[in-house]
Amino acid sequence: MRSIGRPERVTLYEVGPRDGLQAETAMVSTADKIALIDRLSQTGLEFIEAASFVSPKWVPQMGDAAEVMAGITRSVQYPVLTPNLKGYEAARSAGAEVVAIFGAASETFSQKNINCSVAESLDRFVPVCQQARQDGVKVRGYVSCVVGCPYEGAIEPVAVGDVAEKLLAMGCYEVSLGDTIGVGTPADVERLLDAVVRRVSRNHLAVHFHDTYGQALANILTSLDYGIATIDSSVGGLGGCPYAPGASGNVATEDVVYMLNGLGIDTGVDLNRVIDAAWFISDVLVRPPRSKVAQALRPISPDPLP
Ligand code: HMG
Ligand code: MG
Repeated sequence: MRSIGRPERVTLYEVGPRDGLQAETAMVSTADKIALIDRLSQTGLEFIEAASFVSPKWVPQMGDAAEVMAGITRSVQYPVLTPNLKGYEAARSAGAEVVAIFGAASETFSQKNINCSVAESLDRFVPVCQQARQDGVKVRGYVSCVVGCPYEGAIEPVAVGDVAEKLLAMGCYEVSLGDTIGVGTPADVERLLDAVVRRVSRNHLAVHFHDTYGQALANILTSLDYGIATIDSSVGGLGGCPYAPGASGNVATEDVVYMLNGLGIDTGVDLNRVIDAAWFISDVLVRPPRSKVAQALRPISPDPLP
């Protein structure tokens, strides 16, 4: 099943402004979020997940989603999370053209994260997908806890394949497999992908690794060997999930770009500009970037943007 050959080109899907900033305890101002997204828009990234249209009682850090969408200068795609029709409608009013629905392979995580069972969540996503189809809006799907769950422990790959297949069947153009708490090793990723690519095409899969145990780059390399050509990452290694105790940041975009550059895999992303964005948001948060690459390299000029 494995080793179909690594892709020549990879699409990086940036999640820092959403997955990263949703988990920061400090409230980042709307102006700083907009400045971060505008910097990222200059890097060559094609997808920048900008916000979540979720309940502000559940995730107060994303409470200014509409203001963020109104303030950014758009030049690429800016997907947003929408857990239900209410979130979808708010996202559309804010001008979203790509939305993401998010399910899980773990029942307990689903309850803690979106207050319903896995089956109920899929039922809620159906009208979102139907409305999106009518509106010509692309829908991405996420499956969380694809390796382990903070509440249930190990998760069977068959449960992941099941949810991924259902999300694609209801109209998602792509499903991102999330190791929400970053516990997986390459052996787990092989087991996972062996099972999932049997049921859904690898062309419709993305991978989303949090780096809690420092396994994310190794897991990405393993996924590349399975022909996966879309990788989620987060500038500066920002990230976590407020409803996944122990989840640390996503793999850093600059670490992924550095590795893919070394492998000769094209991303179209300018490493120096990503590092600039990583230092920008880290200065806002008053701490150094978590990534090795941004720690090793300051941007070549203090402000390399045009
Ligand atoms: P609920 O309380 O069951 O919702 O929450 P409800 O339908 O019973 O409504 C309760 C209240 O919420 C009502 O307001 C609704 O209007 C409001 P009230 O009458 O009490 O004033 N409400 C909303 N408000 C704004 N936007 C909405 C919305 N929907 C209802 N869309 C709900 C259910 C899904 C809303 C809630 O559980 C929620 O917002 N959860 C979001 C959790 C979240 O954002 N988690 C992080 C993202 S997932 C992640 O990070 C993982 C990922 O990165 C992949 C990986 O790493 O694995 C994607
Ligand atoms: Mg995540």
